[in-house]
Amino acid sequence: MEVTKKILELNAFDMNAAAGLSPEVVTLIGRRRATFGPTSMLFYEKPLNLVRGEGVWLHDADGTRYLDAYNNVPSVGHCHPRIVEAVARQMGTLNTHTRYLYSNVYTYAERLLGTMPATVSNIVFTCTGSESADFALRVARAVTGGTGFIVTDNAYHGNTSAVTEISPSSASAEPRPPYVFVVPAPDTYREISEAVGRRLARDVRTAIAKMNAIGIRFAGFIADSIFSSDGVFPGEPGFLRETLEAVHAAGGVYIADEVQPGFGRTGEKMWGFDRHGLVPDMVVMGKPMGNGFPMGGVAIKPDLLKTFGETSGYFNTFGGNPVAAAAGLAVLDVLKDEGLQQNSFETGAYLRSEIRIAGSEGGCIGDVRGAGLYIGVDIVKDTQTHEPDRDTAEKIVNGMRDRNILIGIAGGHGNVLKIRPPLCFNREHADIFLNGLRGALADAS
Ligand SMILES: Cc1ncc(COP(=O)(O)O)c(C=O)c1O
Repeated sequence: MEVTKKILELNAFDMNAAAGLSPEVVTLIGRRRATFGPTSMLFYEKPLNLVRGEGVWLHDADGTRYLDAYNNVPSVGHCHPRIVEAVARQMGTLNTHTRYLYSNVYTYAERLLGTMPATVSNIVFTCTGSESADFALRVARAVTGGTGFIVTDNAYHGNTSAVTEISPSSASAEPRPPYVFVVPAPDTYREISEAVGRRLARDVRTAIAKMNAIGIRFAGFIADSIFSSDGVFPGEPGFLRETLEAVHAAGGVYIADEVQPGFGRTGEKMWGFDRHGLVPDMVVMGKPMGNGFPMGGVAIKPDLLKTFGETSGYFNTFGGNPVAAAAGLAVLDVLKDEGLQQNSFETGAYLRSEIRIAGSEGGCIGDVRGAGLYIGVDIVKDTQTHEPDRDTAEKIVNGMRDRNILIGIAGGHGNVLKIRPPLCFNREHADIFLNGLRGALADAS
């Protein structure tokens, strides 16, 4: 097996490989390096200098247009006019911190909670997915009196100190603290797909027993409901239920991280956990929530928030400000008015079946999986052994970039193509994508 790749190394530009890039791009890379230092990574062998976005399209400084099949933050489309208008109008009317009354924030809270299970009826607003996950960990610890968390082995939940500790895909998560336990992600390709739910629940029970044996009390389990950084494993609907039962039986809380699959992306349901028929204790939200306006939140069962509130308050200067609420409301409106969840379902299914056909001609595609417009393509050296092929995956991603189509990479072995376009990606876009993929596959083989 290959060495596990940390999340920031995936599809990263090598800062020492600037030969052949345009002088303008080289200058920008130099300025970035001088000001940002070494911790921030760029994508692709040839980094992009983007200046404009529109729908599923991104434009660079040279006027080249790229088909965006990667970005889930502008989930309803880059620079969607209705979001832009709502944000600009509210910004020109009022924006201040969150300790005054604003009716549009409550309208947003009510609308958003209306998409959740009835028992998940409170919300705390933040600005990012990391802050949301961080808050969820605090609540889990406060209500259980425990400190122990269980996560999948290549999970990513964000960048605060506490959240980094439970994000094994982050290089700085090592060495792992004694209260963080990992279980293998539900790799529906390399293990028996139908048994994956049972296996995961069993591993969670074992991890709880192990932490109890060393005197650590279980606080909770947190999982991205589509296991994106683990390699995109939506799995069969329902397979997570047994794990939820195991978590509750041990007195822990179940936290559904919806930063990736939430807001209609899976096509089947508004939320990834809902595909599994689960009622989580907390729902962590971020990225697509404001279509680019930075906002996040935690939907939570009121009794948990009540217990937390007995000893703590929570104040977030920008979380749930009036502009965020305007953006969030506009996103919900556009999702509904443009039928984007349904589009995600239909276009996603089409794309997956056509990628399978393209793969049957090539040989390096081991598995094509996904839900709606969240697709993982497992690139392997051998379709019998399923051995991951990181180098070929990277070649394909860069080959697509050379064809002006943007995708990314996921998974602990850095070999899964991550295809996650804005939800307005339609069949016509899918056909452009497939044409490019056929070329990139042929070049990479
Ligand atoms: C599943 C998941 N949770 C949480 C986060 C953190 O979100 P943010 O980068 O907005 O803090 C991410 C970011 O990639 C994520 O993928």
